[in-house]
Amino acid sequence: MALHALDWLVSSLFVLVLWWIGHRLLRQNRSHSLPPGPPPKLLIGSYLDVPKAEPWKKFSQWRKLYGDLVYVQILGNKLLILNDMESMHELLEKRSQKYSDRPSFLMAKYMGIENNLAFASYGPYWRQARKLIHGTVNQEVVKKYHSLQENVTTKFLKDLVECPSEIMTHLHMATAHIIASITYGFSIDTPSNVYFDEFAETERIVLKSVVPGAYLVDMIPQLWYLPSWVPYNSIRQTAEIGRQRVSDIVHRPIEQVEQDMKQGASPASFVSDHLMESRSEKGIEQLPWVAWSIYEAGNDTTSGTMLVFIHAMACFPEVQNRMREEIYRVVGTDRLPSFADRGRLPYINAAIKEVYRWKPNSPLGAPRKLQDADVYRGYYIPKGTIVMPNVWLLSRDQDSGIDPEAFSPERFLDTHVKKTAIDPYSYAFGFGRRMCPGRFLADNSVFMLVTSMVATMRISKPKDSHGVEKPFNPPYIPAGLASFPYPFEVDIEPVSDKAVAVVKGRTTTID
Ligand code: HEM
Repeated sequence: MALHALDWLVSSLFVLVLWWIGHRLLRQNRSHSLPPGPPPKLLIGSYLDVPKAEPWKKFSQWRKLYGDLVYVQILGNKLLILNDMESMHELLEKRSQKYSDRPSFLMAKYMGIENNLAFASYGPYWRQARKLIHGTVNQEVVKKYHSLQENVTTKFLKDLVECPSEIMTHLHMATAHIIASITYGFSIDTPSNVYFDEFAETERIVLKSVVPGAYLVDMIPQLWYLPSWVPYNSIRQTAEIGRQRVSDIVHRPIEQVEQDMKQGASPASFVSDHLMESRSEKGIEQLPWVAWSIYEAGNDTTSGTMLVFIHAMACFPEVQNRMREEIYRVVGTDRLPSFADRGRLPYINAAIKEVYRWKPNSPLGAPRKLQDADVYRGYYIPKGTIVMPNVWLLSRDQDSGIDPEAFSPERFLDTHVKKTAIDPYSYAFGFGRRMCPGRFLADNSVFMLVTSMVATMRISKPKDSHGVEKPFNPPYIPAGLASFPYPFEVDIEPVSDKAVAVVKGRTTTID
């Protein structure tokens, strides 16, 4: 009995010492406090304080209350909002070893969406996929797509001349054709590629599954184990349908390219190049997923950016006129602009920056997950914190003295303002190791589409049959990974008969 009591005493002392050491270590780590932020409520944290629409505006208001780093707890998730360029640069670029992971979602994982490069965990799979993409869209290689981008743009202009009211469809087809040609080699002449609608549908599944809180099971993982006979429990069914759709659209286009290659009918593309290589080397299992990543990440972002441009042109006709004047001065009216003209078009280049700034495509960047606890500016940032750069706030900077809500390329021209605005190329395409690999390709597509549209078409607010302007305020996707306008009505017409002739003449040169 006495021995038992001694045993008990020794074990208790041992536990106490362990607890004390653990407590000391924790205190050492936590000698720094968490960054300031709204006081969390029991269980839900600040869930009710963050609006569903345009949360970046609320985060920007919090900067005034709490400063550049704002720590928010929502339904058990820890969020850190970065409100200044210095912290984005320091954490996402200089400390990218720790800050390059992505948050993980149960539904997305089950559906296979984490095989998509943009949502993949930071590790060997991501590194290999990124290497594959780099070879196809790096700054040098993208020059070989110039003629493709010029040809697709010409076809887009011809479609606009023939059927201007279908501008939204034409635009979507144009950006889809550029990215599908580069990725799979699908011909730009196909009026409506069979895959485009399916890609768009999967995009919706993807975007839903990577938004925190879209599926209850992501917040309460135990729900996954509910038996299927429980009424209203469709969690596993939804996951299985999503998994099959995603797997189908990832693999089917690759099978088609393989077939086309056997018949000698497949043009060079990301997929065909790598299929040829993998015959001689080892097979690349990642190929279908990486190809899908390029298409998914590259299509809507580019068309969304063009929608912002069209919105801006209709609202700011005087800017549109100044852009056109520059093109006429430099390029003339006898031909369409080309990539060789870009260096001589400072106002156009400033206007493209302004498109990226005016309504940024990713107002909160793409979220990162902190892999190890960190200390920054004297604050403790726990492991697993989801880190979001408030890019929207950067885009509202007022250093140039020009109202951030105005669409004014002048803010980027030192010939017009004492201090130019922050360059959007430093934030619109993300940061550090996970920065957008497709930015050079995207920027070239935007340049070609913007310049050619301004040279040949006049964009204005829609009018009724009496010529009276209709109310014009296109709604934007209010939250999630990307924000750009939903398809909207706008008036578009050729600037002159000569412009129509130039477009038609150029169309005949496309083989
Ligand atoms: C104007 C059009 C585009 C915009 C505004 C844009 C913006 C972005 C942003 C903000 C990110 C997140 C970067 C980060 O985490 O810091 C990203 C990632 C990515 N973008 Fe783009 N992008 C565009 C076009 C493209 C194109 C054409 C491609 C095709 C190659 C592409 C491929 C990707 C991929 C694969 C990722 C994921 C990278 C990773 O997680 O490692 N993007 N993009």
